[in-house]
Amino acid sequence: MCGIVGYIGSKKAKPILINGLLRLEYRGYDSAGVATIEKNGISVVKNKGRVAELEKLSAIDSLEGTIGIAHTRWATHGKPSTENSHPHVNGKKDFAVVHNGIIENYNELREFLLKQGYTFYSQTDTEVIPNLIDYYFSKDDKDDDKKVLRAVVSACSELKGSFALEILSTHLPDKMIVVRKDSPLVIGKTDTENYISSDIPAILSYTKDFYLLDDYEYVVLSKGSAEFYNSDLKPIKKQTVNIDWNASAAEKDGYDDFMLKEIHEQPKSIRETIGSRLSADGTCNIESLDFTKEYLNSLNKICIVACGTAMHAGLVGKTIFEKFCHIPTEVDIASEFRYRDPLINEKTLVVFITQSGETADTIAALKLSKQKGAKTLAISNVIGSSITREADYTIYTHAGPEIAVASTKAYTSQVVLISILAIYFAKLLEMKGKEIDALKDAILELPSKVEETLKCSKQIKCFAKKVYKEKDLFFLGRGIDYNVALEASLKLKEISYIHSDAYAAGELKHGPIALIEKDITVVSIMTDPNLVEKTISNVQEVITRGAKTLVITNQNLGDHKFDNIITIPETNPLISPILSVIPLQLLAYYISKEKGLDVDKPRNLAKSVTVE
Ligand code: M6R
Repeated sequence: MCGIVGYIGSKKAKPILINGLLRLEYRGYDSAGVATIEKNGISVVKNKGRVAELEKLSAIDSLEGTIGIAHTRWATHGKPSTENSHPHVNGKKDFAVVHNGIIENYNELREFLLKQGYTFYSQTDTEVIPNLIDYYFSKDDKDDDKKVLRAVVSACSELKGSFALEILSTHLPDKMIVVRKDSPLVIGKTDTENYISSDIPAILSYTKDFYLLDDYEYVVLSKGSAEFYNSDLKPIKKQTVNIDWNASAAEKDGYDDFMLKEIHEQPKSIRETIGSRLSADGTCNIESLDFTKEYLNSLNKICIVACGTAMHAGLVGKTIFEKFCHIPTEVDIASEFRYRDPLINEKTLVVFITQSGETADTIAALKLSKQKGAKTLAISNVIGSSITREADYTIYTHAGPEIAVASTKAYTSQVVLISILAIYFAKLLEMKGKEIDALKDAILELPSKVEETLKCSKQIKCFAKKVYKEKDLFFLGRGIDYNVALEASLKLKEISYIHSDAYAAGELKHGPIALIEKDITVVSIMTDPNLVEKTISNVQEVITRGAKTLVITNQNLGDHKFDNIITIPETNPLISPILSVIPLQLLAYYISKEKGLDVDKPRNLAKSVTVE
């Protein structure tokens, strides 16, 4: 997905912009570009391909300016090409713009501007923006220091869709204007500089003090200051937020890939998620929630809404909410939920799970839930992300920055946090029972058990060498193990490009078993003592038909024989996904490595999906 970087200060902007773009590479992109304000006007250098291709252009060496904007583009409107890459300028080249998001009415605006004599050189939706700003700028008779800002505000009021914009103008050579609507943008500040980005990790090494922008807040940035205005051009006050992420957490720390590093960080990230929410003496508290027993008793249901891996974490949450809180719980894919007129009202609590906090469908589902009167609770990993500013309540996973596109540590932290949330609700509801206490103890033991589970790495690497050339793989499980099968299958698909499917083991004979033939690999997960015998029977059925098997288990399998078995530590079955997913994350990782693929930046995928 597109990424934005910007700088305004006393240093040369180019190296800072390039460094920021490199840190955004994980988001996925197909072209890159920068623009700086130079003595003789705006200089734009852009190229199709990686940032390395951009750096090869000789024009980039001549950029001396101390104010600059930069962009990595992930093609939506128009093919990946140099013309379509950002920054975009108007004909006179007195405005340059980089844009994340989608301008839905760009055709209309383009038609209008064509009639006014403007020319377009790209197929992008973005190119209307510098031209529209120019249009309003030229029509404004008043010549004061707010003229560019007025033109930007007028242009933005015409835009439909989502946007995060950085704007340079030769009419305002010491400044930069930025604004956002439904697309992330933050400003990192020091006493003498401002750093701008769509993603905090890209500029985390420069500062920890950030302005988090709300929709339609216009910011006029200069070297040491940031002035904020609303759409009526009235000044507004804005405080910085301290983002307590360690800059080195956004580095590879000696690992070959971010994904491998993030898999190995899980003992730590889980410890951080537990934090002081759960303690050995049995107390369970979640900061910033003020729910009461009466409120929870009044609920008609809980809906958990999310996308991809975050949705898989929600599936685990459903089982725990229903078991311990006795509240009916549904899990929905955000892109489905938002268009199916869900039956929710003021008696529904809707929980949104999102690592990035920027997923467009999840945010839209939250807005819909609020319109329908439901209470909304966001579980996010990114402090100040868009969803956290929309939700009634937010709780953070505190997993640290997750850079690899394939989500690993965010998933396990989401499962931990939703389990703690269920315990917290059960406590408010005065539900008592040994099982709740047992789950608390099991959660506290997780960091060391994850450490233990990671020791299967070598065994998994050997297995990956055996199967990496396969065309299809199947994952089976029952109950909570089926939820893990879904997550394992997604992980494998996204980074190895091997087709895979996950099935509830009991469903096999209702269709999928027709796909089983000699030497096909079937991976099964067996962690629930109540279901293990049932799943074993299903796996026997595929063995009879010639399948090769890998079993992930913490159960006694008796005399049953399987080709490969990975034994993981025992834990409470409700949270077993946190352990059983680890060998499967590693499996996807090592298969991808065997195939020589780019693990952290799989094709066609983006880390945060900020468009619908
Ligand atoms: O940032 P989010 O948690 O909202 O992202 C949701 C999905 O896009 C994400 O989990 C995606 O499925 C991952 N690439 C999976 O590894």
